Amino acid sequence: MGKVILTGDRPTGRLHVGHYVGSLRRRVELQNSGNYSDIYIMIADAQALTDNAEHPEKVRQNIVEVALDYLSAGMDPEISTIFIQSMVPELFEMTAYYMNLVTVSRLQRNPTVKSEIHMRNFEASIPVGFFTYPISQAADITAFQANVVPAGEDQMPMVEQTREIVHKFNTVYGEDVLTMPEILLPDNDVCRRLPGIDGKAKMSKSLNNCIYLADSKEDVKKKVMSMFTDPNHLKITDPGQVEGNTVFTYLDAFCKDEYFAQFLPDYKNLDELKEHYQRGGLGDVKIKKFLNKVLEAELEPIRERRKYWEQNIPKVYEILKAGSEKAESVAAATLAKMKEAMKINYFEDSALIAEQIEKYQGK
Ligand code: TRP
Repeated sequence: MGKVILTGDRPTGRLHVGHYVGSLRRRVELQNSGNYSDIYIMIADAQALTDNAEHPEKVRQNIVEVALDYLSAGMDPEISTIFIQSMVPELFEMTAYYMNLVTVSRLQRNPTVKSEIHMRNFEASIPVGFFTYPISQAADITAFQANVVPAGEDQMPMVEQTREIVHKFNTVYGEDVLTMPEILLPDNDVCRRLPGIDGKAKMSKSLNNCIYLADSKEDVKKKVMSMFTDPNHLKITDPGQVEGNTVFTYLDAFCKDEYFAQFLPDYKNLDELKEHYQRGGLGDVKIKKFLNKVLEAELEPIRERRKYWEQNIPKVYEILKAGSEKAESVAAATLAKMKEAMKINYFEDSALIAEQIEKYQGK
């Protein structure tokens, strides 16, 4: 059997360009590489509810939003199985069994959960479901016997936790029942965490500093023209700084050499442009206009595909339904294998039945 990918996102908002360079673009490349026999992309609604229990409507709305973003980014439902987590109840059954293999103190050490608890002011009262979501994430990954989990650095502790559960499960119940997964991190440093347009480290809806995949041409332009650059670069002739300069960070993430030939032929590549900026004599408006053209070249095909899918919403639901059905049948097969290994498959266990007959009627 070939290699299997599983990854996913919580549907708590539409996806932005940070998601695109950090994960979506890579997923599409992996999908089109032909190196994977199965690719599962999960919309993690149940996980989203672990800290949004009072806001099911937000989760409900964002399922389609995220599905549209996937399809527009180039996920191909013919190759990749896109599904909704809560439509695969086997995942919750697996989670229950994995809970017996993990200690409370181990969960408390998870750095991503720790910082999320802090961010959400959960210190005084953590919902149990939220606290244990790394265990349910182990179910998400193992249900599909995934070898590879393409994800950001923040997901490292989850995959590490999953690996411990797999090791423990296989040690206790039988070799090779579950597949040992590995994380596949973004290969490009700037893509790991693209800053907001204000230069702040994190793009977030509440900071209003994101460029969304669904943004119009006009919105993108406005946002690019308002981007944070080098606050000390006052006159064009002043030398400028490229480190921490959001326009250059975005160019690092998005620019290809061919865009210079197309949009800014005075320079061969990004290094030349950076050199000129550092030397002085290059204005912010010029680099912003260039970035806007680069972003347009990257985002326009995504926008076009989005337009198509927005006009075909029933088709989007069909894709999610078919994907969820396929995902459920795969997860059910893994669960059956697990229960067999745990010897709790009572009605398929002829040895157990024979043993009981012997015990009660043998003599
Ligand atoms: N935790 C991921 C996020 O916050 C979503 C997710 C749930 C996931 N289960 C997963 C990612 C399994 C990778 C593998 O977006």
